[in-house]
Parts: sequence; structure tokens; C-alpha cells
Amino acid sequence: MDVDTGVDDSLALLYLLASPEAEIVGIASTAGNVPAPQVAANNLAWLDVCRAPEIEVTLGAIEPLAIPLRTTEDTHGPQGVGYAELPVSDRVLSSRSAAHMWVDLVRAHPGEIVGLCTGPLTNLALAVRLEPALPTLLRRLVIMGGAFNHPGNTTPTNEWNVHVDPEAAKEVFDAFSAAPPDRRPIVCALDITETIEMRPKHLSLLAERAGSLPVEAVSEADPPEARSVASNPIVRHVTDAVRFYFDFHRLYDLGYLAHMHDPFAAAVALDPALAVTRPATVDVELAGTLTRATTVADWAGMWGRESNADIVIGTDQELFFDRLISRIGDFARALYPHEAGAPE
Ligand code: RIB
Ligand code: CA
Repeated sequence: MDVDTGVDDSLALLYLLASPEAEIVGIASTAGNVPAPQVAANNLAWLDVCRAPEIEVTLGAIEPLAIPLRTTEDTHGPQGVGYAELPVSDRVLSSRSAAHMWVDLVRAHPGEIVGLCTGPLTNLALAVRLEPALPTLLRRLVIMGGAFNHPGNTTPTNEWNVHVDPEAAKEVFDAFSAAPPDRRPIVCALDITETIEMRPKHLSLLAERAGSLPVEAVSEADPPEARSVASNPIVRHVTDAVRFYFDFHRLYDLGYLAHMHDPFAAAVALDPALAVTRPATVDVELAGTLTRATTVADWAGMWGRESNADIVIGTDQELFFDRLISRIGDFARALYPHEAGAPE
């Protein structure tokens, strides 16, 4: 996983921790929603909350490849996990960098690693610079990023992860131009992720599944200082994290909801059959005054270049939410079987 934890990155992490068929072999902390050290601290803290085994967490580059870092605490909260206040972990960060972890892992396990990127592509680009054969050494790559036939969420045409580091995104998509068709990145862009809308009912369903009490009904009437009193710590922290994201989406007239960009990409990484895809040649605008960091898809071969991406154009949203809620709910119940009932 290469994440900029963030509220939805947190749900992607929980989804994979809760999925028996997933083995997380490393977590790269990429600067994006919040600075890289805060991303790393969030990753370590969630591993504690989830009583996870030792999983390597690496620190990524402090800045994007070519431009100063821009973060978005207004979207994900001051620490990147919304209103949640995660206990500080005493787990230790890996001594190697995120880029070196990428390279070491794919060299040690050629053809076996599924890469999932839910943040800017800074560290993956640095890894490809270290190991140009990386695209052929991965089993699969899933990227949450970009916007194609769909408005941007950061400028009129660009999406946050690509906006933070457009040079990195271009280097990654260019690197996969030479990859064989079965190694093309599966790209979950805003076109599809903005159809995945979490609502308050989903948090209530999660609490019920986890056997957590009380089952709360978060609402836009809740004041910012409200905090969940769910008996199950995972439900409590997820509720506090996501409620901030609900508030942010409502503030921008998107509704009292939250787009599940990253957990959707995680679900696709585990089960590509969840996604209907269409091949295209993707490139990234770097020079446009209005359009810099815009991802462009050539669906029809007009550029005369090989396809370098399989773009997700359809999914079953209900099936995704069924999996998200059942997996994280069952995981939370199993981890905290005695935390049913309101806390003291
Ligand atoms: O544009 C949405 C993406 O940007 C998500 O990955 C979110 O976490 C932020 O990183
Ligand atoms: Ca993210």
C-alpha cells in the first residue's frame, strides 16, 4: 500500500487488514493529504487500533518530485483522520525509505506483489527511477487517481493525488507504457470513485455488524465537537474520522456523504472482477496554465501509442459497500468482542 492517510486511506487500510485474502507486506507513507511524517504516524496508529501484527511502515519523500508540497487538512482534518483522535503508537518506522521498500519487495517477490496507490505517486516514481523494470516485477498495480471524462476535485480538471505531484504521475504512466497488457495499472479515477457515496446509514450498519453500542446516527446537525461514544474502538474512530469527511463534502455542496475513493481502489486491488475497465493511453499535462496536472485518456489510439492503463468505467456500488461493511464490521467485532455496550 502507498497511501497519504487521510480519511479514506484509513478505510482502505482497514479494509485490507479485515480481508483474510490480503497480506499487507508494506505500507509506504506518502505526503499528500497531510505531510509524510503525519501520514506515517496515522498508519502506525491505525495498526495499533487494529491490533495488527508487525507490518513495515516506511516514510516517503517529504516533498513531491518537482514542486512544493500542498496538503489539505481542510478535507481530512488537522491530522488527516478527521475528528478521530488516534492513540499515538510506539511502533517504529522502518529504516528504509518508501521507494527502497517498493524496489526491494518487487525484486524479492517478482510477479507476486499487488501494488495499491491511494495517494500521490511520488514514491512509486522514485522507485521506478531506482528500478526501471518495476512495472514487469509487479503482479498488479491499482492506482486511485486522475479524472478523465469527469470534473476534477482540486481544479476544474485535475484530481488531488495527481495535482500534488503531476511529474510523478507522468513518470509512472510513462513507465507502464512498456508493460505487457496484463500488467497495465488499473486506474480508479474520480469518474468511478465519485459514484461510491458513503452515507450515515453505512456507519450505522457498520456499528450493528460490529456489535458496537450505541448504534449512532451521525447527522449534519452534529456540532464539530461531537464525538462518537461507540463501544467498539474501530467503529468509534471510523465514525469520528468519516464524520469530518461528511462535513467537508457538505461544505462543498456535494451532499452529506463521503466519496470512498481509496477503499474502492483497495477492493479492486483484491478483486479486479469488481471493476469493469477499458484500456486507454493515459498521459499527464504538465505545462498547461489552466490544465496542469490533468490526466488525459486517449481511448481511441489517436496518439498512436500503446495503452498503458485499464481505466475503471463501471462497478457494483452495493456489492462494494456490502464487502466494506461486512469485512470491517466482522473484523471489529472479532478484535473487540467484549466491547459491546456503551463505554463507562
Ligand atoms: O482525490 C481523492 C484522493 O485524494 C483520495 O485518495 C484522497 O485520500 C486524497 O488522497
Ligand atoms: Ca488518499
